[in-house]
Amino acid sequence: MSLFITFEGGEGAGKSLQSRALYRRLSKLAVPVVLTHEPGVTPLGRKITRWLKWGDGMAVSPMAELMLFNASRAQLIEEVIRPELANGKVVICDRYTDSTIAYQSYGRRLDLDMVKAVNEAAAQGVVPDLTILLDIAAGDGFSRKQGQKPDRFEREAADFHRRVRDGYLKLAEKEPKRWLVVDAGQSKERIRQIIWEKVSSLLKA
Ligand code: TMP
Repeated sequence: MSLFITFEGGEGAGKSLQSRALYRRLSKLAVPVVLTHEPGVTPLGRKITRWLKWGDGMAVSPMAELMLFNASRAQLIEEVIRPELANGKVVICDRYTDSTIAYQSYGRRLDLDMVKAVNEAAAQGVVPDLTILLDIAAGDGFSRKQGQKPDRFEREAADFHRRVRDGYLKLAEKEPKRWLVVDAGQSKERIRQIIWEKVSSLLKA
């Protein structure tokens, strides 16, 4: 049974750790599963990620950012997400279209309807069955990332990251059936358990 699960959240929320944990658990149970992430898994996506995260000094407008994230997404859908879902697999994706709404619309203040329209064009109907938001206050996430060199997004002002978080919470509120909001301040084990309860109930359904 195919299932498309996405992880979302601000910087340092623990998405990568939790998405890997879910992947391992499903693999151990012999559930066919694929773990991927945005941006930067396909050869095109890797180049785009380098420009967007580390293109120090290179100007990238919010509109260019929107298009580049969606170009990377369109390629990932074509190469990985759609074929794996068609093969009946569970596909876990660390970030997806909601990241673009949170960061490029709420964060960069691009028009919400326009961002949604561009996302929809790139996603071509591939919509998550479940989106897990690891919710964390902006400052808390950064303290977890101390010691790592900050990329273009991590260097944004605290207000940008507060808008991103508010954006995520608004999205989750509008579509409570699709979203599972988890307080990322809890222990890793507790978060893993909450996520597993939800995913296993979907797999049984
Ligand atoms: P991360 O995967 O290490 O979190 O890095 C990806 C960065 O790119 C992160 O700061 C969020 C940002 N981003 C956007 O701004 N828009 C998007 O659509 C995506 C997928 C990521």
